[in-house]
Amino acid sequence: MMVQSSFTASLLRWFAQYGRELPWRGIGDPYGIWVSEVILQQTRIDQGTDYWHRFMKRFPTVEALAAASEDEVLRLWQGLGYYSRARNLHAAARQIVEQGGFPRTIEGLRALKGVGDYTAAAVGSMAFNLPAAAVDGNVYRVLARHYGIDVPINTTRGKHTFEALAQELLPAGEAGTFNQALMDFGATWCTPRSPRCMDCPVAETCEALRTGRVECLPVKEKKLKVRERRFSYIYIRHQGMVALRRRPKGDIWQGLWEPLFIEDAPLPDLGCPLTLLASGVKHVLTHRVLLADFYLAEPDERPELAEGYQWIDERNLDDYALPRLVIRLLELLPASSPD
Ligand code: ADE
Repeated sequence: MMVQSSFTASLLRWFAQYGRELPWRGIGDPYGIWVSEVILQQTRIDQGTDYWHRFMKRFPTVEALAAASEDEVLRLWQGLGYYSRARNLHAAARQIVEQGGFPRTIEGLRALKGVGDYTAAAVGSMAFNLPAAAVDGNVYRVLARHYGIDVPINTTRGKHTFEALAQELLPAGEAGTFNQALMDFGATWCTPRSPRCMDCPVAETCEALRTGRVECLPVKEKKLKVRERRFSYIYIRHQGMVALRRRPKGDIWQGLWEPLFIEDAPLPDLGCPLTLLASGVKHVLTHRVLLADFYLAEPDERPELAEGYQWIDERNLDDYALPRLVIRLLELLPASSPD
């Protein structure tokens, strides 16, 4: 494919004129660049910039960050959300210091906690000029439109297609600049809803513009709607015994054991109050999200059990295969009172 020359050159020219001035650009410090990338993963650029300044002021070097407590890092991160980013950043800073310095290869960067393909390529290209394409959401959009590619971007095939194309476009020796040119162009010109096609520097070769598909690209595959199921479990405890049944055929967890299971039906009267142990406990399966309420019932009299349930000695629970969700209920139970 003859993709290189004009598109890449036009974007570099556009970037020289319209690229955004961001405080970590041109600093050459891999640490500062890395911090900016982690902040910007889930944060808008204006809010992210403020945090970046505060973060760099408090932790100017990777050694300073590694020496801090996790609590302090998290406090500084307060308000940015997605706190695993901060935890990973902190852990990776310690990895870097232990290794005796910042890794200078894509594989070395990729081995840091919380660093995926995108971040490794972004930091590697901007700090060390490594020839790696950093493909973020903006880049997907720009490339899908300009090259008229309708492979869904949220599929493995899409990821491979766009990464290969971005890699092919990368100009030798200017990977960092080109990556940022694509990102800025996507963020300020080739935007999702009102792209500036009228004064686009690559309009002439834009396949989406030529074929009237600017608004339809990129394509995203509709993920199967994940359906919710809500149910309740009642752990009925009587004299050290608990009522369990084996889950029937034709549903999730076939053959596993569970306490009294109620779905789409009112809670039964067991002749005693129900103690709510937890509500809305979330359990994610591939095509389902389960939301469960957990109850404990401790009736004085042994209640009549619904079909399929049997009394099992609580001390033998380890012998029964239980769904993970039921184990979470067990973890919330108060100890059985000795009688
Ligand atoms: N988004 C994330 N990193 C960026 C960068 N270096 N330039 C522009 N936008 C970005």
